[in-house]
Amino acid sequence: MTTDFASSSETRDMSLSPVAGVGKARRGLHMITWGCQMNVYDSARMTDVLRPLGYTPVDNPADADMVILNTCHIRDRAAEKVFSELGRLRVIKDERRAEGRETVLAVAGCVAQAEGEQILKRAPYVDIVLGPQTYHRLPEMVARAARAGGSVIDTDFPAEQKFDFLPQDAAPQTAGNVSAFLTVQEGCDKFCSFCVVPYTRGAEASRPVVSVLAEARRMVAGGVREITLLGQNVNAYHGEGPDGGVWGLARLAYALAEIPGLDRIRYMTSHPRDMDDALIMAHRDLPALMPFLHLPVQSGSDSILKAMNRGHTADDYRRLVDRLREARPDLALSSDFIVGHPGETDEDFEATMRLIGDVGFALAYSFKYSVRPGTPAAGAPLQVAETVKDQRLQALQALLREQQDDFNGSVVDRVAPVLFTGRGRKPGQMVGRSPWLQAVHVDGSDDLVGTVCPVLITTRLSNSLAGHLIEECALA
Ligand code: SAH
Ligand code: SF4
Ligand code: F3S
Repeated sequence: MTTDFASSSETRDMSLSPVAGVGKARRGLHMITWGCQMNVYDSARMTDVLRPLGYTPVDNPADADMVILNTCHIRDRAAEKVFSELGRLRVIKDERRAEGRETVLAVAGCVAQAEGEQILKRAPYVDIVLGPQTYHRLPEMVARAARAGGSVIDTDFPAEQKFDFLPQDAAPQTAGNVSAFLTVQEGCDKFCSFCVVPYTRGAEASRPVVSVLAEARRMVAGGVREITLLGQNVNAYHGEGPDGGVWGLARLAYALAEIPGLDRIRYMTSHPRDMDDALIMAHRDLPALMPFLHLPVQSGSDSILKAMNRGHTADDYRRLVDRLREARPDLALSSDFIVGHPGETDEDFEATMRLIGDVGFALAYSFKYSVRPGTPAAGAPLQVAETVKDQRLQALQALLREQQDDFNGSVVDRVAPVLFTGRGRKPGQMVGRSPWLQAVHVDGSDDLVGTVCPVLITTRLSNSLAGHLIEECALA
């Protein structure tokens, strides 16, 4: 990966110079984030790069000098949802202008990448459109928009990596969080028949190991105890190592596990094809690697998996799960499913239900296939009727819900180590997470935040667990 130093210094200079009203005065920044965890991470990083310009987060868009809508393009009506939200934000922008206050309105993320020009055409009051690969240029774009008084669009896939431009000194947006996301890999070359991601996020690219470790250390120094490594295909990670060699995700996990104070490591989203032996062994060897894996399978039918271009069969997936459970017997799995992919018959759907029955999932996300223009499946014959998709989705979700309840119930009467992340809804109540990503509530005090304590789980609620601390927890 090359680093463009000219662009780097320009970006930094801009962030420090009071260009056209962009000074260091305190400014409100309102961030709206849709989509996957990578967008959550990107929103945090956009907040970081804007901080040197004086922008600090505010909850209410009416108090914001800048609003960023970070969008997702994964399923249909994505663009319509963006335009309806922009209509709402336009009203706020007009009201503020009537009071003599300007609002910079930016659209970021995957819809911006795919439909940037459209957005500027249909919503000319938008000031900035930026794709997921250019958020490090935001300070420069803000300055340009202020100078030009017009709109700025940047949906390049630049040669320089945005990660090289993250502020090293500014208080990271993750400060105060116990759990944080860290993007290590981005983009996708797999071109599943149904999916827009290869077009919105570009080709697969991994961050160098030193850059990941440095960010992880900064996060831990700021109080983070759990890091979830992110990537569209995170287990395809192949970053440049400090030794000049290529490191896979397993090797990265071993290195992260050495960081004192980093109690828990997770990663998502994994592709079954990239689940190599080294990573399976890491699950056996590393207690910090949590026993919960999101491993989307999409379908249990071999012919649909083939049509989807997933590159494995249903039995390959079953065998993989067996090997993972052999390595880490308490490993729980979650997955994604699509019903109604073009060509899916009743038999194909039954095969998916069988796979779910065989594997047993702790959690799952399931979707009706949604036509994405420009993807291979969009033009495929044998599109499945909406009513059939509805029926299949209902049956699938009922089975998955049953499995989820069973899994959550299986933890009751057991002691689980819980990493406390903050206050619960009721006074005197604290909330944390089990190793299996379940929310756990206990009575306790703020001192618990950031510590891992053993909790006796007593109750399964609809989407969480409750329990009580079984011993005084040593404070971190
Ligand atoms: N990289 C991940 C998935 C990223 S997209 C993987 O390979 O598994 C997240 C999920 O959205 C997918 O797993 C899929 O279940 C769902 N999805 C993606 N495109 C979709 C579409 N066109 N219609 C319905 N669901 C879709
Ligand atoms: Fe989309 Fe497939 Fe890539 Fe996942 S692996 S991001 S589903 S193309
Ligand atoms: Fe959505 Fe883009 Fe993530 S399309 S799911 S925000 S990669």
